[in-house]
Amino acid sequence: MIDLDYTNLHKINPKHGLSENEPESKNELLPKFIEKVHSHEQGFYTNIDDSKTIQKIQDFAKTTRAKYSSIIILGIGGSALGSKCLIQGLCHLFQNKLKTSSAPNVHIIDNIDPVLINNLEDIIEYSKTLFIVISKSGSTPETITQYLYFRQKTNDKKLNPKNHFVFITDPEKGFLRETAEKDCITIFNIPKNTAGRFSALTAVGLLPALLAEIDINRIISGAKIMRDKFLNENFNENLPFKLAVIQYLLYEKGKNIDVLMPYSQKLTGLSEWYRQLLAESLGKKGKGITPIRALGATDQHSQLQLYNEGPNDKLIIFMEVEKTDTEITIPNPFPEKKELKFLEKNITFNNLMKIEKVAAEISLTKNDRPNITIKVDSLKEETLGESLMMFMGATAFLGELLQVNAFNQPGVEHTKKIIKQSLLK
Ligand code: PA5
Repeated sequence: MIDLDYTNLHKINPKHGLSENEPESKNELLPKFIEKVHSHEQGFYTNIDDSKTIQKIQDFAKTTRAKYSSIIILGIGGSALGSKCLIQGLCHLFQNKLKTSSAPNVHIIDNIDPVLINNLEDIIEYSKTLFIVISKSGSTPETITQYLYFRQKTNDKKLNPKNHFVFITDPEKGFLRETAEKDCITIFNIPKNTAGRFSALTAVGLLPALLAEIDINRIISGAKIMRDKFLNENFNENLPFKLAVIQYLLYEKGKNIDVLMPYSQKLTGLSEWYRQLLAESLGKKGKGITPIRALGATDQHSQLQLYNEGPNDKLIIFMEVEKTDTEITIPNPFPEKKELKFLEKNITFNNLMKIEKVAAEISLTKNDRPNITIKVDSLKEETLGESLMMFMGATAFLGELLQVNAFNQPGVEHTKKIIKQSLLK
């Protein structure tokens, strides 16, 4: 379950926060906005009903998983960050798979740095590797060049491409689709109505997750719970709308930077995914919210000083996981030491993390810095599904509030064109 606590906004100077009634001032817009969202005919909240594709993903993973020791995702932007978020959020932090599973390791290669490619080759065995090439357009220079490189390598080793590649791409056209048809490579579709950053709950995010043995049905059922909220015309029930309105009202008060700061190592992938979602969806027509990705408690010693006493232009969105399966008590073998007195109550790392977050929250509130908390009861498949849907829904509503098209990315496409032209010179 996910909840939103924005009471700190009422405790600070209203110039920088929100009075109790302010968020509800926009509630009459909600029914109209839901209609507008429907009129865009976007798939991000309907893809989870596509049981045929979900079954195809499951059948493929069942017959495939045991054959490989490494799964390599080749993709960039929205074609990589959804799977990164799910794998980081649900797998072992150092093994890229579930702690107890014999599943292959999943690595996401979303850059063209030759050192990254070279180091990856040090740890994979080609004959036991499956490359999942993800590109909606099928022509993104970074992804296609990665594919060509690894395809050449597998060709040199006389490996059959249909056993070592899977493509996730446009349902009708593009270089990847043509290649798949020619070489009998398995292909999954990215629905036409789904932009990359909104595709985490399609094969783009779900196939890599399932290959890492994550239960994708549970992710989908969490996403469906939040989808019902997203389409609910009652302001108090509609968490994505509430979040969007808070972000928007504070944007109007000059808070044009939003910091997402989870107090959970496993949510770093979610922050990275959200950074793209917010930036690429809303950064248009001279408008937009600049996203910052932060991590508690780590960034209390890196950025918190700025948030507390620098320009008052940010909304801090904390994320807090209430229950974790792992509990570790901090030993205190030196009870007589004055410097370690703060440990005399037998505290756990879990408590320490909570206390650190509350301390950051108190200091920010005292300094009139707007901050809210997204509360997650526990980090599991369902709550990650809920989180993805909550942020996608809120971003769609922010598009309406800011009057920009949240679903295109002309600036990104323009740069892709320039790259290709420069290579021809
Ligand atoms: O969100 C988006 O649409 C973009 O970030 C794309 O995902 C990114 O540019 C990669 O494009 P493609 O999937 O066509 O390779």
